[in-house]
Amino acid sequence: MQIGISRERIFTMNSTSFISFIFVILLACTFGLYAQNDIVKKEFVPLVGQDGRDVRWIPTPYELVNKMLEMAEIKSNDYLIDLGSGDGRMVIAAAKLGAHALGIEYNPEMVELSKRNAKEAGVSDKTDFIQTDLFNYDLSKATVITMFLLPEINLKLRPRFLDLKPGTRIVSNTFSMDDWEPDYEDLTEENWDSWYTALMWIVPAKVEGIWKLQKGELTIHQEFQKIYGTFTSNNKTSLINSGRLYGDHITFSIDGTEYTGHVNSKTNMGGTAKKGISKKGWFAIRQ
Ligand SMILES: C[S@@+](CC[C@H](N)C(=O)[O-])C[C@H]1O[C@@H](n2cnc3c(N)ncnc32)[C@H](O)[C@@H]1O
Repeated sequence: MQIGISRERIFTMNSTSFISFIFVILLACTFGLYAQNDIVKKEFVPLVGQDGRDVRWIPTPYELVNKMLEMAEIKSNDYLIDLGSGDGRMVIAAAKLGAHALGIEYNPEMVELSKRNAKEAGVSDKTDFIQTDLFNYDLSKATVITMFLLPEINLKLRPRFLDLKPGTRIVSNTFSMDDWEPDYEDLTEENWDSWYTALMWIVPAKVEGIWKLQKGELTIHQEFQKIYGTFTSNNKTSLINSGRLYGDHITFSIDGTEYTGHVNSKTNMGGTAKKGISKKGWFAIRQ
């Protein structure tokens, strides 16, 4: 039995059949190339534990992804950056909540995989993935940063985080930032997995220094979100107690008066002072 078409047969075809034959061959080649290309694209399957530039790829369990985003209270006006974005799951989940989200990932194959995953999830228009070293990327546009890195890397990034806009939320899977204590911490319900803790820091406004209050002078010492110091008025000095910042929101108490307010700029803050049932406005100017 002869399979295929012999040279003689081709040459004896009429011109219409010959053109049809060539067309079929071209179509088959195009399909073949397309299928082959598709197979090549689909061939990359990430391996849990594969090398990364500074950290191996271990994906955050989806339950913790949700917990981290819930903790950050993601809204549609947020711009989230995931540092070392792996297969893109954090970025995609944030985009599904309505935010714009960017993944920074060193491994180019993971970047391509993330783009495909975002397309499949229908959130390509709200996501971006950039192949670069996370240490080189400008983070100033972020309102939320997520990461699953290592304690020493978090610590290296810490000065950059502290220079971000007050109120920027930094959320980490499991790893801390040394003596900068998290403002919030929570576990996933099913903590059978080794990666189940969400930690969140809110970048505090910078208030270290001397401030003139209506009737005296505040000397503030700041350790991340905690503030200490003294208030001096009419030669009497009192301690600042329970001083704390959540972004630009400030609270402290002096001699039983509770101060709450906002740091409005580098040189100006103010709000409400409450003692018992009496309430007054307060403001302070940096000296
Ligand atoms: C532990 S995985 C976390 C992945 C993802 N964020 C998640 O939570 O599922 C860390 C990721 O960071 C990437 N990575 C490591 N060092 C990096 C660097 N210097 N710049 C960019 N990405 C990096 C790795 O390739 C890996 O995908």
